[in-house]
Amino acid sequence: MVKVRILGIETSCDETAAAIYTGDGQAGRILGECLSSQVDIHARHGGIVPEIASREHLAVLPGMVEEVMREAGIAWHELDAIAVTAGPGLMGALLVGVSYARAAGAVNNIPVLPIHHMEAHLLAPGLEGNLPAFPFVSLLVSGGHTMLVRVDGIGTYKLLGQTLDDAAGECFDKTARLLGLPYPGGPAIAELAEGGDAESFPLPRPLLKGGDLNFSFSGLKTAVMHIVRNNPKLVHDESRRRDLAAAIQLAVVDVLVGKCKTACRQEGIGELIVAGGVAANALLRAQLATAASEYGLNVHVPSLRYCTDNAAMIAYAGCQRLALGLLAPEQWDAIPRWPLTR
Ligand code: KG4
Ligand code: ZN
Repeated sequence: MVKVRILGIETSCDETAAAIYTGDGQAGRILGECLSSQVDIHARHGGIVPEIASREHLAVLPGMVEEVMREAGIAWHELDAIAVTAGPGLMGALLVGVSYARAAGAVNNIPVLPIHHMEAHLLAPGLEGNLPAFPFVSLLVSGGHTMLVRVDGIGTYKLLGQTLDDAAGECFDKTARLLGLPYPGGPAIAELAEGGDAESFPLPRPLLKGGDLNFSFSGLKTAVMHIVRNNPKLVHDESRRRDLAAAIQLAVVDVLVGKCKTACRQEGIGELIVAGGVAANALLRAQLATAASEYGLNVHVPSLRYCTDNAAMIAYAGCQRLALGLLAPEQWDAIPRWPLTR
């Protein structure tokens, strides 16, 4: 494929992002990127407020697109496509990005590609030239998803296992709240866990044994809830809070790494991608590196900024789809619940 230039737009949750990527399906680079996080705004409410998220996206997105176009030195007529997150995510938030992309596409006569947010996470290592050859196994771990997927090609995904209840990021967010920590809980727990003794609270590793590739994190959350309720002084004891944070982090990481190993063994695949917001977790990254050397796996994890939500990964997914001639279906819209695999 000839080199194309793609504007990526991401507004599925609480980050507004725009980026321009140029590539030919094999190699490429980011020409400009811009991200505005609403984390501080939602933190005041203890979690994401969908209505506030939509309004914030609407307020900042047009200015951000202008900014990345300026940074990349690109005019509208020089773009080959606009890639926009069409789902899954918050309906109102998705609609802001989708409506903007559609309007800009219509006015400038540019095709618009609806992108699956989790597919973009899954392909994110490719942004830095680290996408392994197919097939590979991918662990997608974010605030809304925890799933293991076998990837045989772009758009050819087989679900190997997924969470039966809470996502891993959701487990961090909810247990953080029990510990009196701010949203988002993952980074807050990771920070508090530093220097904590992870062995001092024996927390369960739900569904770790047994060889099945599904996850369950609600029991872990309930166990933490009982510990906090039964020890009312704990939340005022910094050292015990550190220990509990370390125990939570280790329990989640043990399960995620254990399931990755089982999935790779089961599929007979040695290439593993771990992506999504929770992939930013330093302990997870360290344990994956250990597992990689022990079990002969090649583990590919995006750099921190491309683990959490961003628009470069949306533009990159658009570029890869375009390279394969995978254009938008005739009818499409924002889809808040959109399974990655059928
Ligand atoms: O992919 P993402 O940015 O947004 C969604 O699509 O959900 O993931 C956000 C999730 C949140 O649950 C957050 O607590 C978690 O990723 N997260 C982390 C870390 N950074 C973000 N979890 C553990 N450790 C981190 N360092
Ligand atoms: Zn995400």
